[in-house]
Amino acid sequence: MIKVGVLGAKGRMGGLVGQTVRSQGDLELVAEVDVGDSRGALTGCDVVVDFTSPAAVMDNLAWCVRSGLNTVVGTSGFDGARLAEAAELVSGAAGQTGEAAASRPRVLVVPNFSVGAVLMMRFAEQAARFFESAEVVELHHAGKVDAPSGTAARTAAMIAAAREGAGLGRGPDATTTQLDGARGAVVAGVHVHSVRLAGLVAHQEVLLGGHGETLTIRHDSLDRASFMPGVLMAVRGIASLPPGLTVGLEGLLGLA
Ligand SMILES: NC(=O)c1ccc[n+]([C@@H]2O[C@H](COP(=O)([O-])OP(=O)(O)OC[C@H]3O[C@@H](n4cnc5c(N)ncnc54)[C@H](O)[C@@H]3O)[C@@H](O)[C@H]2O)c1
Repeated sequence: MIKVGVLGAKGRMGGLVGQTVRSQGDLELVAEVDVGDSRGALTGCDVVVDFTSPAAVMDNLAWCVRSGLNTVVGTSGFDGARLAEAAELVSGAAGQTGEAAASRPRVLVVPNFSVGAVLMMRFAEQAARFFESAEVVELHHAGKVDAPSGTAARTAAMIAAAREGAGLGRGPDATTTQLDGARGAVVAGVHVHSVRLAGLVAHQEVLLGGHGETLTIRHDSLDRASFMPGVLMAVRGIASLPPGLTVGLEGLLGLA
C-alpha cells in the first residue's frame, strides 16, 4: 500500500485527487490537509501531492523536503526561477554523498498531468523542424486569469528550441501594419494566440505550415478527470525517480 497525503485537499484538484486515490486498491489516503490544518498529519506518508496555490506551494514544499517526504507538485507557477529555488531546496544536501544523498526526498513538479497534453507538446517539438511556420492557439474557459497558458508558453519554447536546433529562423510573416495583439503574444519567437470563451475547458492547437501543406496538432481537456491518470502515475512512480528534483511526467511516460 502506498500511503498518500494531499495538500489543498478541499480544492477542485485536491478533492478529486482524494476521491481518485480512495478508489485505488494499492493506494491509501492517509491525510487530507487544507488551510488551517496541521501539516503534521502528512508525517509517515510515502508521497504527498500538492494542489494548493502558487503563493502557498513553496512553503509547503520546503516543509515536505525538510520532513523527508517524496512530493508530487501540481500547483502552477513554476517558472525557471521557481524551479531553481525548488532544486536548491531539495539539494539542500548539496555536497552530500553516498547514503545521505540517496536518502534525499524526490520532488516531482508536473506542469501538466494530462497525458494527451504532454504528448501534444512532444509531437509539436518533433514536428517543428520540418515546417517553416509554427503558431500556437490556446483556448480556455473565461475564468482563466493568465494568458497565455503555461502549457502554451512551454509548447512555444519547445518549438523554438527545435527550430533553433534545425537552423530555422523566424517564420515568414509579411505583416507591416496591425492592431495591437492581432498577431498574438510572441514567446521565444513563436506567436501564441489566446482565446477565452465561456463553455470551453482547456484546449490547444499547434499549427505548422510548410510547402503546400499544414499539420494541426490539437488537444482537448474536457474534464479535470483528464489529469488523474497522470497524477496516479506520478504517485506510483515517484519512488523510482532519482533523489532530488524531476520536472514533468515525460520520464515516467518513457518519453525522456
Ligand atoms: N499540473 C496540472 O496539470 C494542473 C491541473 C489543474 C490545476 N493545476 C493547478 O493546481 C492548483 C490548484 O488548482 P485548483 O483548481 O484545485 O484550486 P482551488 O483553489 O480549487 O484549490 C486550492 C486549495 O488549496 C488550499 N490551500 C491554499 N493554501 C494552502 C496551504 N498553505 N496549505 C494547504 N492548503 C492550501 C485552498 O484552501 C484550496 O482548498 C492551481 O495552481 C492550478 O493552476 C495544475
